[in-house]
Amino acid sequence: MEYITKNTWETEKLGENLAVKLRGGEIIALIGNLGSGKTVFTKGIAKALGINKRITSPTFVFWRSYKVSHRSRIKYLCHIDLYRLPKPRGILALGIDEYWQRADTICVIEWAEKIKNYLSKKNLFLVKFDLINSNVRKIIINKRY
Ligand SMILES: Nc1ncnc2c1ncn2[C@@H]1O[C@H](COP(=O)(O)OP(=O)(O)O)[C@@H](O)[C@H]1O
Ligand SMILES: [Mg+2]
Repeated sequence: MEYITKNTWETEKLGENLAVKLRGGEIIALIGNLGSGKTVFTKGIAKALGINKRITSPTFVFWRSYKVSHRSRIKYLCHIDLYRLPKPRGILALGIDEYWQRADTICVIEWAEKIKNYLSKKNLFLVKFDLINSNVRKIIINKRY
């Protein structure tokens, strides 16, 4: 599905709308340039899961997990940002591949194209962000099975 968002809020809302369809065990791979809206979209996902902690890009630590309290099946949101990951193989040292196998976890990965060879195609959503102008983004969401 292809969407055009005209402000920050609309992109956050798209993240919320995707999150309510999730059952646990999904990986949401976010692909797009700096400032294209990946973290905003992640905030929407977190909001829909009832996480009220502030979501910031975990740029220096690469990933952060949040406890989900109000759902039964989904227990954690794992937010990964690979912007500063030097080599794809480096992902293996982070220990997050364990997280994204889990059926009780939603894993959101910014700059996911850097590790595309390590992602299983099962339960994968690919979300591509295009920066059209200062307030407009084109966002394409595809489910892989
Ligand atoms: N339509 C839009 N969708 C998302 N963000 C937008 C939009 N219009 C303006 N913005 C702004 O663009 C920036 C996107 O930042 P961010 O989500 O951190 O990008 P990324 O994580 O992709 O680097 C925010 O400052 C946001 O307010
Ligand atoms: Mg970001």
